[in-house]
Formats: sequence, C-alpha cells, structure tokens
Amino acid sequence: MTGRLAGKVAVVTGAGSRGEGIGNGKAASVLFAREGAQVVCADQVAARAAETVEMIAAEGGTASVFECDVAHRDGCQALAAAAVERYGRIDILQNNVGIPSFQSLEEITEEAWDQVMGVNVRSMVLMAQAVVPHMPQGSGSIINISSIAGLRAYPPRSTAYTTSKAAVIGLTMALAGQLGSRRIRVNCIAPGQVFTPLVAERLDVTGRQRRATSGLIKDEGSAWDIGWAAVYLASDEARWVTGHVLTVDAGITVTIPGNQYESIETGGLATPR
Ligand SMILES: NC(=O)c1ccc[n+]([C@@H]2O[C@H](COP(=O)([O-])OP(=O)(O)OC[C@H]3O[C@@H](n4cnc5c(N)ncnc54)[C@H](O)[C@@H]3O)[C@@H](O)[C@H]2O)c1
Repeated sequence: MTGRLAGKVAVVTGAGSRGEGIGNGKAASVLFAREGAQVVCADQVAARAAETVEMIAAEGGTASVFECDVAHRDGCQALAAAAVERYGRIDILQNNVGIPSFQSLEEITEEAWDQVMGVNVRSMVLMAQAVVPHMPQGSGSIINISSIAGLRAYPPRSTAYTTSKAAVIGLTMALAGQLGSRRIRVNCIAPGQVFTPLVAERLDVTGRQRRATSGLIKDEGSAWDIGWAAVYLASDEARWVTGHVLTVDAGITVTIPGNQYESIETGGLATPR
C-alpha cells in the first residue's frame, strides 16, 4: 500500500465479476483498497462482490459487500446509506456497472433499449443523486465507466450499447458542470478492448489475439490498466481534473481506423480484418 487514497471511502458498483478472472469493477476495488481506501463493493449478485472483498481482506485491506440493483432508485439510496453507516462518508464513487448489447437497428426492441439505458446510464444518475449529499466539501470524485464504443462505432450491432456509452460521456460533462463549484470532480474512463470476464465468454483464441494487438501498443490490456486510471482520477493527484474522458485503449482510438492499423503500417489500406 502506498496510501494514495488513505482515509477515503469508495463505493464501486458492479464490484464483482461475471466470471472467472478480473473485471473492471473488481480491479478498481482491489486497487482502491491497496491505496488505503475503505471500499463498499456493490453488486446485484452478492457472491460476486464477496469474491472481491475476500481478495481485499487477504491483502489486509478494508472492504464490505452490499447487494443491490443500481438500475433503481431504492437500491442506490440504500447503498449510499449503508456506506455512510459503515464508514462515515463517501469520497469516491465508481459507476462501473454496464451490460453489453448486440442488436442492430432492425433488431433492437423497446424493452432491450430501455434495459440497456436503465442499467448503463440511469444507474449512474441515480447513484450520483444518492452519493453526492454524502460527499464532504472538497473531496468528491465520481468516475463513470464508458467505453471506446461511446467514441467510435462498433459496426454493425451495437445500437444501444454505443448510445449508452456516449450518454455516459455526456452525463460526465453535465455533472462536472453542476458539481465543480462544490469541488466534486466528475470524470470518465473509456476502456478499450481489455480482456475481462465480460468479453472472455465470447472470444476464441484468434479473437482474443486480434483484440490484444488491435491498438498501437501490441500487448493485451487488462482490468488492472483501467483500475490504475481510476486510482489516479480518485486521488488528490487529479485535484484539477474534471469533465475529462480518459481513453485507456493502447491508442486504438487514434488510429484511422484502428482495426486496419496493421495494414496501414505495412503499406496501405487493405481489407479490414
Ligand atoms: N471488458 C471490456 O472490454 C470493456 C470495454 C469497455 C468498457 N467496459 C465496461 O466496463 C464495465 C464493467 O466491466 P466489468 O469487467 O467489471 O464487467 P462484469 O460484467 O465482469 O462485472 C460487472 C458486475 O456488475 C454487476 N451488475 C450488473 N448489473 C448490475 C446492476 N443493475 N446492479 C448492480 N450490479 C450489477 C454484475 O453482477 C457483475 O458482477 C462496464 O460498464 C462495461 O461496459 C468493458
């Protein structure tokens, strides 16, 4: 522990992982605790958050589980109240919960649209509403997890996901504007194609290799890469940073287009892989 978050209390939503391995919420929770924060690990599946809490406890950190659905107001209010009851305040909110969706324009239904927007966007509004009143003046940091899917198209089937992740960026700016005078900072991380349990279930060896080498840095990204960015934004080192979208993506979003970069490197645009 180096104590970059010593004395702070963090709430992480979606702090478990849907499968074996380390997702973004789990990595952020573990790193926050390593840096000295007390962490409330919230998840709608308590057993998943409990795995994260066990990892933290095994390293000597402080964390506890809270089971709730953050897509609804009651769950968010109960989570914030529990954090204050347990640890006295809330300094850091990491809005990590997000679900994938793969429908094209023709396929997307009203129900699927509402579900994705409810989980990926409304939850972040409701969590901010619940937590902000408990943030001490001058010490608040809200980190919203978007995606490079909110900055670039993933053709052809990400209608609701891309829209929801772009909305997270808009929400980040809106909240940064409203909360800056209270010295509550609101930032956003746009992870690239990291390997986590969320994507592992859909990738074969070739797909994993293609993702791993699709950016400028030819090395696979993990949830730890996203977690370290969150530690920075949560810490006082970022005291002058608000309303920012931090891509953590091996540089894929600065290529033209990213999935053709190798072809450009080796002599011109060829057929996209
Ligand atoms: N893995 C990637 O490549 C990648 C890339 C870009 C962005 N992201 C974003 O990272 C975030 C999550 O990543 P992860 O790896 O931690 O995912 P994950 O699916 O492994 O874990 C998310 C956790 O959230 C919980 N959860 C889901 N809905 C919930 C709800 N309504 N209330 C409470 N908990 C709920 C799940 O039970 C799960 O334990 C998402 O916002 C995702 O869009 C991931």
